Amino acid sequence: MQDEFVFDSLYSISSGVVQWRSPSNIALIKYWGKKPVQIPSNSSLSFSLSKCFTSTKVSFKKNNKKGINYQFFFDGKKKPRFENKLDYFFEKISKYCPYLLKVEMVIESSNSFPHSSGIASSASAFSALSLCIMEIEKLLNPKLEKPFFFRKASFLSRLGSGSACRSIIEKFSVWGKTDLISNSSDFFALPFNLKIHNSFNDLCDTILIVDKSEKEFSSTKGHELMNSHIFGDARIRQAKSNLSLIIEAFESGNYELFIKVVETEALTLHAMMMTSNPYFILMKPNTLKIINSVWEFRIKENSKLCFTLDAGANVHLIYPKSEQDSVQRFILEVLSCYCENGKFINDMIGTGPFKL
Ligand code: DP6
Repeated sequence: MQDEFVFDSLYSISSGVVQWRSPSNIALIKYWGKKPVQIPSNSSLSFSLSKCFTSTKVSFKKNNKKGINYQFFFDGKKKPRFENKLDYFFEKISKYCPYLLKVEMVIESSNSFPHSSGIASSASAFSALSLCIMEIEKLLNPKLEKPFFFRKASFLSRLGSGSACRSIIEKFSVWGKTDLISNSSDFFALPFNLKIHNSFNDLCDTILIVDKSEKEFSSTKGHELMNSHIFGDARIRQAKSNLSLIIEAFESGNYELFIKVVETEALTLHAMMMTSNPYFILMKPNTLKIINSVWEFRIKENSKLCFTLDAGANVHLIYPKSEQDSVQRFILEVLSCYCENGKFINDMIGTGPFKL
C-alpha cells in the first residue's frame, strides 16, 4: 500500500463533470514481465503520441449505494466487454480514492483512432480515466499540487494497465526503478530527465496497420509467462543494458546506436513470446516483409528510419521529422501494400494529456 496516495475526504460534492484527453504511447525499451501488483520486471522508456488519444468524460453525483457504481459508454454505446477490466481497476484503486465509493459515475469514452485498428488503447484509456478521477479528487482537495496530481494519476493508471502510467507524461517517459535515472519508481512514471540531443525531439511514428483484428493473446498473459521464462533473467539484464545504451544515444545524438537498441528491443519482445511456454507468434508475414523493406531502405537511402513493435502485428516506423517526405513516399510506394486495406496512421511525439 502506497500511503502517500491515499486520500479520503470528509466532504463530498453533490455532482460534477470532469473531462480529460490522454495519448497512447510507444515503448522504445519494452515493459514485458511484471510482479504483483503491477510492478515491472524492468524499467521501460516510451514517448507519448499526439494523434492517437482517448477522450474521457466522467459525470458524477452523490449516491449512497454500496461499492463503486458506474456505467461505461464507448462511442456512445454500452460496452459490457470492458467492464471486467474496469471492475478490477476500481477494486484496486478504491483504497486510494475512497471518495469514489460515495458517488455514481457515468463514464463516456472515445478514441481518436479507429476502434478496430489493432492499436492498443488501454494506455490512453486508463490514463484518461485516471486523470478524470484525479480531477474529482482536486475538487475535493483544491490544494492538491500539480506534480502530485500527475504522479498519482500515473500511479492509478498503472493499476489499470502498466503501460498506461507512461501516457501521463509528455514526450519521453520512464517507468520502473533504475539507478540510471534519479527518482525513478516502480509505482509511477516520470519524465525522462536526462539530456536529449536535438535529433530526438521531433520523432515521428507512423503506425502501419498490418492486422486490425483483436489480439489472440492478451499482454497480461504474455507478462505472466515471463515469470517462468527460460530467458527471463537474461531479458531483465538486457533491458537494463539497453536502457543505459539508449541514454548514451540520447545524450550524444548517436542515431546508429539508437536504431540498434530500438530494433533489438522490438525483436526481443517477440522472441520472448516465441520462446515462452506456451509459445505464440503475434507477427504476421507482412510484419516481416515490412521489417526487411525498412532494412533495405535504410541502407539504400542512408536513412535513419527504424521500426518497433508492440504486442501485435502492426509496425511502428520511427524516424526524424527531417525524413518525413522520403519516408511518406516509401510508405505509399512500397509499404502500404503490406497494410490491411492499405491503412496507416501518421503520428509523432506528443505534448502529453490535457484537460478538456
Ligand atoms: C508490449 O501495459 O498492455 O506494449 O499491464 O497487463 O495491462 P498490462 O500490460 P500492457 O503491456 C504493454 C506491453 C508492451 C510494451 C510496452 O508498452 O512497454
